[in-house]
Amino acid sequence: MSAKLRLIKIVRKNTDAAEPAWKQEIREIVQTVKERDPAARSTAEVLLLYSGVHAILLHRVAHHLYQKEHFFAARAISQLGRSVTGIEIHPGATIGKGFFIDHGMGVVIGETAEIGDNCTIYQGVTLGGTGKDVGKRHPTLHDNVMVGAGAKVLGPVEVGSNSKIAANAVVLRPVPENSTAVGIPAKVVKKDGVRVQVDLDQVHIPDPVAQELNRLNEKLNEVSRALEALEAKQAAKKTATRKRKGTQEHDNEE
Ligand SMILES: CC(C)(COP(=O)(O)OP(=O)(O)OC[C@H]1O[C@@H](n2cnc3c(N)ncnc32)[C@H](O)[C@@H]1OP(=O)(O)O)[C@@H](O)C(=O)NCCC(=O)NCCS
Repeated sequence: MSAKLRLIKIVRKNTDAAEPAWKQEIREIVQTVKERDPAARSTAEVLLLYSGVHAILLHRVAHHLYQKEHFFAARAISQLGRSVTGIEIHPGATIGKGFFIDHGMGVVIGETAEIGDNCTIYQGVTLGGTGKDVGKRHPTLHDNVMVGAGAKVLGPVEVGSNSKIAANAVVLRPVPENSTAVGIPAKVVKKDGVRVQVDLDQVHIPDPVAQELNRLNEKLNEVSRALEALEAKQAAKKTATRKRKGTQEHDNEE
């Protein structure tokens, strides 16, 4: 075989090997969306109209640049993704295969967040920090985790494989695998498909705003009681003075 032919073979082999990696990635992303969103009709629709897909593709590029320590370029791509999709993924976040962001708007994923394979998150989800931790300060989601719309997972907590975080829950503590966590702060209500007995009344859940208003109301009552007592004291004082003056005038007249 001539040197020229050998060179062409080597180039083709390398391009062929490189191409399937990103092609396969895109194919997997499209497949994931089609499997998990019954509304997805065609590959073109998924590729062109799904902001979650755009966000993940841009994140793959940003993360690659981040790993090569091109931090500014990585951040620039992440910010571009944010302005186009409304989904902010820090380039440092580690995301596994089969990740699906449905609807997406308002999603925030922090720098040290780690997401396993086949996880799904919905709009309004935050995988963020509490502000109290340094270093690893964002959550870790293991494989097949679902985080419902509006849920917040805060701090370096772990959510075990196959677990579900309910819509609008606020997770501050670790969630074991095969569990469902609901509420604020989130509590595990189901483990391995069996209902866990917890003292969690989802209907009469304490409302922090109402609690604060009650506290203010109590304070206000206290202040008005003190004011009333003060007024009564002053009135009594005035009456006593008036009485004393009256007696003196009477004595003087006599
Ligand atoms: C939590 C969820 C995944 C259901 O998980 P599940 O394991 O099937 O749990 P169940 O439906 O059996 O619910 C378990 C308990 O949690 C309660 N619960 C479910 N979702 C809840 C929520 N978001 N907030 C508060 N409580 C919730 C249920 O009422 C039930 O309570 P009960 O046992 O007292 O009746 C689902 O309710 C949810 O929140 N999905 C998010 C989907 C989403 O975000 N969709 C957005 C589409 S745009």
